[in-house]
Amino acid sequence: MDKHHIEVMLDENSVDQRIRELGEQISRDYAGKCVHLICILKGSVYFTCELAKRISVPVTMDFMQCSSYGAATKSSGIVRLAKDLDEAITGKDVIIVEDIIDSGRTLAHLKDLLGQRDPRSLRICTLLDKPDRRVADVDVEYVGFKIEDKFVVGYGLDYDQQYRNLPYIGVVEFD
Ligand code: IMP
Ligand code: MG
Repeated sequence: MDKHHIEVMLDENSVDQRIRELGEQISRDYAGKCVHLICILKGSVYFTCELAKRISVPVTMDFMQCSSYGAATKSSGIVRLAKDLDEAITGKDVIIVEDIIDSGRTLAHLKDLLGQRDPRSLRICTLLDKPDRRVADVDVEYVGFKIEDKFVVGYGLDYDQQYRNLPYIGVVEFD
């Protein structure tokens, strides 16, 4: 790894507060229903757990892992499924939970794929959104923070697999 340091972009309190608000909003929107959260491994693990704790309607969870093909084929939008869901989502009120939307390719693909499995409803919740980088058109109903186009880590996001465990969102600054 090149020499770098981490600058705080969103401190722990701000992130916690915003997740609490998202949880309250989802609880209101899904009153009387059960929310089925789909956590996209690995980056969304921290956010999904914290969000789930703040949702007051019944919650179930499942996990999925996908990886994009290499840079050369990325523009094709092909996303490889490394781990599929354990359970069917037919008739469920599903929310895909992501750490960050960048180009939007991953989520556009996932929303398509899961939409074909007849959920009762299907929405997306992301902790971070980099709107400047969007290539694929995808509707996102719940956004924690819109951020500038900077490489961020923490709260599940990694730089070469490190820093996922930071309790805040930081920017990687190269020295
Ligand atoms: P996209 O929206 O399909 O381009 O891909 C989003 C994925 O790229 C996320 O799930 C992250 O794994 C990764 N990613 C994008 N921006 C960042 C960042 O700033 N830090 C860490 N990972 C990122
Ligand atoms: Mg990811």
